[in-house]
Amino acid sequence: MPRMIARRNFLKTTTGLAAATTMCWPARRSLALSPNEKIGVAVIGAGSRGSSHLDAWIKDARTEVLYVCDVDSAIGHAKCSAVEEKQGRRPQLVKDMREALDDDAVNVISTATPNHWHALTGIWAMQAGKDAYIEKPVCHNIAEGSALIAAARKYGRICQVGTQRRSSQQCRQAIEFIRSGGIGEVNFARGLCYKRRKSIGPLGDYPIPEEVDFDYWSGPAPYTDPKCTRERFHYDWHWQRLYGNGDLGNQGPHQTDIARWGLGIDTHPLRVMSYGGRLGYQAERGDDSYVDGGDTANTEVSIYDYGDKCIVFETRGLEIKPSADTELNRLFQSTNGNKIGVVFYGTDGYVVEGGPGGCVAYDKDMNVIQKFEGGGADHFQNFLDACESRRMEDLNADVREGHLSAAISHLGNISYYLGENNKVQLDELRQSLEKVKSLDDNLETLERTLVHLSDNGVDLDKYLLSLGPVLEFDPESETFPNSAEATQMVSREYRDPFVCPSADRV
Ligand SMILES: NC(=O)c1ccc[n+]([C@@H]2O[C@H](COP(=O)([O-])OP(=O)(O)OC[C@H]3O[C@@H](n4cnc5c(N)ncnc54)[C@H](O)[C@@H]3O)[C@@H](O)[C@H]2O)c1
Repeated sequence: MPRMIARRNFLKTTTGLAAATTMCWPARRSLALSPNEKIGVAVIGAGSRGSSHLDAWIKDARTEVLYVCDVDSAIGHAKCSAVEEKQGRRPQLVKDMREALDDDAVNVISTATPNHWHALTGIWAMQAGKDAYIEKPVCHNIAEGSALIAAARKYGRICQVGTQRRSSQQCRQAIEFIRSGGIGEVNFARGLCYKRRKSIGPLGDYPIPEEVDFDYWSGPAPYTDPKCTRERFHYDWHWQRLYGNGDLGNQGPHQTDIARWGLGIDTHPLRVMSYGGRLGYQAERGDDSYVDGGDTANTEVSIYDYGDKCIVFETRGLEIKPSADTELNRLFQSTNGNKIGVVFYGTDGYVVEGGPGGCVAYDKDMNVIQKFEGGGADHFQNFLDACESRRMEDLNADVREGHLSAAISHLGNISYYLGENNKVQLDELRQSLEKVKSLDDNLETLERTLVHLSDNGVDLDKYLLSLGPVLEFDPESETFPNSAEATQMVSREYRDPFVCPSADRV
């Protein structure tokens, strides 16, 4: 493939954040490839998920991986070698993604950086005229999601979110079944992330891998004291809110997306509240004074009121024992208690996504109505197909879907963070939950959660749960009319030159 590199000297002509984000390339609306040319790809963030991206592009004869961008040069070199072996040509390794974005031979980017970099990466890429495949959650906060949508529309770019269940045939069939009345009227879905997450260790002076540029890694997040980080530098950022969004915003966006999709909800909720905590690690470590270095909840229940519909999302990071959840174990056919999935509750039955049988529809007596068994279509291929057709309608997970589903996580976390210091006795929690509008049995969900915590040795008289406020949300303006504090958390403060622009400034 001829590499017609017409560098626009993006790096040289921009001096900082503001310049970088206001600079506009002429939008190249087509892929503009010559007949024998391949789609040039830059993979940004080549950690564990980035490897799956690389494999997908190598497998697809339409593409060539031209760049691996990683701020950890050890990871970057290793991934370049792996690509060279499989692809026959070594991609270029760069630390600063803007070097790859400056290269005309790059047509599309795919990114699997930590969450706090997702939106700015996507916006820079689309401003540079590239199509973008962005991992879930598509943004680290709500304003970033809106900005991504604005950028995709303004620059005429294709932007897919990495919620690959959108391309799974069995999910698609199950959703169609629900929406065509297969289990009657459905207004309520419960998403579950019961996934064991051990303590990440205390904060401390751990060496940041010397191959990592910590300033650039931090990017749109504040630059914190490098002597006060986590034991495992990569991956465990998920549990520190400056970078990650806890499991509600990690595994969660797959299931919140399915729940919203199945219920046919095309907007944000009107009200949200969460309760929970980061609990159980003292018992895990056998030390009452132990303080884990994460600051996201490992136990969280979030209730989303959409007016006539409702989603409840339950996050559990401690060991799952079967004792707490008789009904859910039955629905998921789970003997060990583990569950990651969604239950749709219809007037005539249930659809369960995530059980051992994949997606299954049951009647009210748990007789199987239908099993949905279609294999998974390739989400990466779907993205490339849309890049070629130039029709965002061809995408299975357009950025707007990703934004609405990621926002479910962010809204739940905003209530949790605001209520973090509001530690309440169980009676107060019960009384408060009785008043919260929901299509769930709020008290039953609480009692199951409490059994789960007791199962894990959490002394509920000593370690109290935090109760977040019920927050009203305006889906149009994406603000909280009654809480300036919450509205402030819709975005964040950025540091030069890593400022993610707002939707009206992309
Ligand atoms: N769709 C899925 O099923 C799925 C599965 C796993 C992870 N993910 C998502 O993928 C993302 C990455 O997850 P992971 O487990 O690979 O994390 P990780 O921490 O293992 O890897 C992240 C990589 O990004 C690099 N990086 C950080 N900042 C960068 C920057 N500015 N430019 C270039 N590289 C940068 C890091 O050095 C690291 O190599 C997360 O957002 C996660 O939610 C999605």
